[in-house]
Amino acid sequence: MRVVILYDPGAEDWTAEDVRGVMQAVTQVGQSFAALGHAVRKQPVRHDMRWFQAARQADLAFNLCEGVHGRSEWEEHVVATLEFAGVPVTGASAWTLAACRRKATANAILTQAGLPIPRWTVAQGRIQDDFPLPAIIKPAAEDASAGLDRGSVVADRKALRARVAAMTEQFDEVLVQQYVAGRELNVGFVGDRALPIAEIDFSGMPPGSWPILTYAAKWDTGSPDDLGSVPVCPASLPQKLADRLVRIAETAWRAMEGKGYGRVDLRVDEQGRPWVLEVNPNPDLNDDAGLSRMAKAAGWDYAELVRRIAEVALREAQGSKAARELLAPSRRSRAARTA
Ligand SMILES: Nc1ncnc2c1ncn2[C@@H]1O[C@H](COP(=O)(O)OP(=O)(O)O)[C@@H](O)[C@H]1O
Ligand SMILES: [Mg+2]
Repeated sequence: MRVVILYDPGAEDWTAEDVRGVMQAVTQVGQSFAALGHAVRKQPVRHDMRWFQAARQADLAFNLCEGVHGRSEWEEHVVATLEFAGVPVTGASAWTLAACRRKATANAILTQAGLPIPRWTVAQGRIQDDFPLPAIIKPAAEDASAGLDRGSVVADRKALRARVAAMTEQFDEVLVQQYVAGRELNVGFVGDRALPIAEIDFSGMPPGSWPILTYAAKWDTGSPDDLGSVPVCPASLPQKLADRLVRIAETAWRAMEGKGYGRVDLRVDEQGRPWVLEVNPNPDLNDDAGLSRMAKAAGWDYAELVRRIAEVALREAQGSKAARELLAPSRRSRAARTA
């Protein structure tokens, strides 16, 4: 099988570490297919569309783009182009990517599906005086904790107004949401199968800071926020609560027409009530990221996770039999293994 791995080579403002993060996943996914004897091409995605010529000659496009030229709003365009041309592509559809990145749109769809979403509003530069506190202020159309730091949660009106004003200067649209105190849990999906639940253990957060996943927690390795937010998988939960969380996450995943692979983030408040924070299509696929950790708890190694993500995409495009045949190790690799 010919696999083309699509990725964003980045923009001028990317650091060497940003590039390394992307290339690490590209390499790891590439190795997983190469080990099965498949032909792998690593293809940067740029506006010149050369990537598209490569993708349409492949049996499968493995999509690792989180944007183009560092801009997340072009993420769905890559997928839409492939969908339009009928090229099998891993992960979420263009619609899911577009809808989930707009937090207000996603929240409206999830609320309509009957899911528990913490109260939220889009702040048009200002915020009503009766909005419940504490509240968290986030950019309405970003992900990966962009714009989130220790000042994102506010407990009084003055701080709320100041934060909304500051965020409005930086981002086009700002979402204010009621802050849910309590445990943070993630349910991962490959296809429609839920993986073991993970939890973020915030017990090591520096005193006085709100237990949230800030930008530093996600991307600044070794920072106090990173060291204070430790993922644990599987999470230790009463079975009944775990079942409930999976049911809610499945409903959320279906409401956003999730396919391929994804992760639903939830919190359970101090009264034990679950709340959906967001649905993440195509979450980070690095071996040290959440989805891989969940897959390992399910007994899959990294190569198996990659293989299953490919299988889901190929099955949808070609049916189960063709997917099996395409994914079967090629003769070349069988010979190499017996040699
Ligand atoms: N309503 C909320 N209550 C409590 N914490 C929240 C809430 N919304 C977001 N957070 C915290 O902020 C983090 C990032 O927010 P999220 O909505 O998941 O955006 P992103 O797309 O940037 O990941 C979450 O992992 C969580 O720790
Ligand atoms: Mg999140």
